[in-house]
Amino acid sequence: MKIKIINGPNLALLGKREPDVYGEDGLDKIMKDTTARGKELNIEVETFQSDIEGELVNYIGKCIGNTDGLIINPAAYTHTSVALRDAIKASDLPCVEVHLSNTMAREEFRHTSLTAGVCIGQIMGFGANSYILALEGLAKTLTNK
Ligand code: DQA
Repeated sequence: MKIKIINGPNLALLGKREPDVYGEDGLDKIMKDTTARGKELNIEVETFQSDIEGELVNYIGKCIGNTDGLIINPAAYTHTSVALRDAIKASDLPCVEVHLSNTMAREEFRHTSLTAGVCIGQIMGFGANSYILALEGLAKTLTNK
């Protein structure tokens, strides 16, 4: 099984960025831990991060035909990007939206997700573990099909 994990803007700054909200771990460590969990589940995990909306859209397009599912933390683009929503929908790949923080317990502008409606599910509020929970959930959905 092949799953791609896609991270949006400012997530490369994890560890330094608002650690009280997002935790102390950097993105590299979070991706390493999630990839290791994937190995245990026999999942090939590839990860990608970009601050640039168009690069995220391009990457999703490149996943078509060689990927079983997507996990995405669109970060701030969650709340703004029709382009990312359309890219996820166009890929026709099962996608799980992830957030480290519980966006529903934060500022009102974070309560709207333009991307969640084209995902099979959403996991938020568990810090770095949100990614592992998303991977486990997506893998279960894909194998139970
Ligand atoms: C985030 C939540 C977003 O609102 C924010 O813009 C981020 C990170 C999270 O993982 O909690 O950059 O996606």
